[in-house]
Amino acid sequence: MKKGKKLYEGKAKIIYSTSDKNLIIQYFKDDATAFNNQKKSTIEGKGVINNRISEHILLSLSEIGIKNHLIKRLNMREQLVKLVDIIPIEFVVRNIATGSLTKRLGIEDGTVLEKPLIEYCLKDDKLGDPLISREHITTFNWLDSANLDFIDKNLKRLNDYLLGMFRAVGIKLVDFKVEYGFTHESGKKEIILADEISPDTCRLWDVITDKKLDKDRFRKNLGDLIPAYTEVAKRLGILHEQSNITAVNVTKLSSIKKKK
Ligand code: TMP
Ligand code: ASP
Repeated sequence: MKKGKKLYEGKAKIIYSTSDKNLIIQYFKDDATAFNNQKKSTIEGKGVINNRISEHILLSLSEIGIKNHLIKRLNMREQLVKLVDIIPIEFVVRNIATGSLTKRLGIEDGTVLEKPLIEYCLKDDKLGDPLISREHITTFNWLDSANLDFIDKNLKRLNDYLLGMFRAVGIKLVDFKVEYGFTHESGKKEIILADEISPDTCRLWDVITDKKLDKDRFRKNLGDLIPAYTEVAKRLGILHEQSNITAVNVTKLSSIKKKK
């Protein structure tokens, strides 16, 4: 599989073509952004950990029949994935109220929701990814109602599975954002999960202390992002001795750099 030219550079990832027209390479950068790119930084080692965590989660999803774009991880920062036409909607699932939900509706931070809440946002940075309703989605033909029903069901299954997976390692899955796309393979258009699932795209709190183990550490200037992401990877049983040492070195490296 030969790596081709850069097709697209996003805020946290770069996409490259490959010698197979249906496959692309997804490269995880160390860049962190928040509030629609208004806050930016580079956090050394973040891309490496997210690559591993997302690989772990997407592989387990394949095992339970939640179809996704991952073919395999290629190296520390890259994955071979299926090319999809991304649906221009960010699908957010919430189990506990926090973040934009609390600001928008005045719901108390930390309120446990009686059932998972699904929200849709239009994927458009220029507009600030505005919240949209099901009616907007069907009116503007971003997706038809049958496909939207399919995704809603998929999101509920995904949420159930992820809740259990994180709960088993002492982590509350507060909320997450995912993206879906249409595959190109053999003329058959199928909706599959794409992008990534990592502490960049989920809110993860320790079950006992409620310590934030996700990108809120960056958004809220809490510091220690790499140790938090490493903690998630360790609890999920991903980091082995060797990569564990790498993560620790990365932490030391970034603190040395900051001191300079
Ligand atoms: P929010 O509370 O800021 O709307 O975020 C909800 C969830 O979506 C949270 O887990 C963070 C994630 N998210 C992204 O992955 N990318 C984004 O651009 C935004 C705004 C949120
Ligand atoms: N990734 C988004 C951005 O930079 C926002 C976020 O994750 O909070 O704009």
